Amino acid sequence: MTFLNLLQKLIHNRKTHWERAYKNQSSHKLSWYQDYPEISLRLIASTKVAAESNIIDIGGGASKLVDFLLQQGYKNITVLDIAGNSIEKAKLRLGGKANNVKWIETDITNCNLEIQYDIWHDRAVFHFLTNSQDRKRYIKTLKQSLKPNGNVIIATFSLSGPKKCSGLKIARYSPESLLGELGNDFKIIETIDEVHITPANAKQNFIYCHFRKRA
Ligand SMILES: C[S@@+](CC[C@H](N)C(=O)[O-])C[C@H]1O[C@@H](n2cnc3c(N)ncnc32)[C@H](O)[C@@H]1O
Repeated sequence: MTFLNLLQKLIHNRKTHWERAYKNQSSHKLSWYQDYPEISLRLIASTKVAAESNIIDIGGGASKLVDFLLQQGYKNITVLDIAGNSIEKAKLRLGGKANNVKWIETDITNCNLEIQYDIWHDRAVFHFLTNSQDRKRYIKTLKQSLKPNGNVIIATFSLSGPKKCSGLKIARYSPESLLGELGNDFKIIETIDEVHITPANAKQNFIYCHFRKRA
């Protein structure tokens, strides 16, 4: 099997997993569901970017982050996810407002984004990339798609968080180890711990990290 065939197979398996996750369950019963993504919104507000800024939510899925960002007046929001089913759920929820959002159905480890962003937000996606090649491709895309001084907000399970999410193995991070993945082009601006309570009442320790790309 060639490297390209192997990559296509991995991406196909990953997509099948996530399409099923959203097909088989209501959004608000998924373990990562948040009624109000408080810390993400707080960190995004702290960047003080203009309402016209380009914001992308990587693996946004059916998250309600986009609803609140629209409500707060942000005008150029992109939601990217590997699972078309998650995007359909978000669009259905938003109704006509979905037309004000750019939706991209793709695997972030194997894509080229057309524009540059002021904010790259990722909650609970990067930690699924347990393969170093996937992480390298993710970070290459991130670096190409971020403006100078751009903001990166990544939330992963912290060092005291669970070892699995959605039945898949994940990698846990500290702010320093996440910075290590991003490299010297970035600096840490702020970090926030969160204990996320899942719909089934389990506790999951997250770490949210706000990084800024050096100009
Ligand atoms: C645990 S969920 C988190 C969803 C959302 N960020 C939130 O906080 O509610 C992970 C999301 O990442 C998406 N995802 C997983 N791997 C991905 C990849 N390689 N590229 C794009 N999206 C991916 C899944 O479809 C799913 O929507």
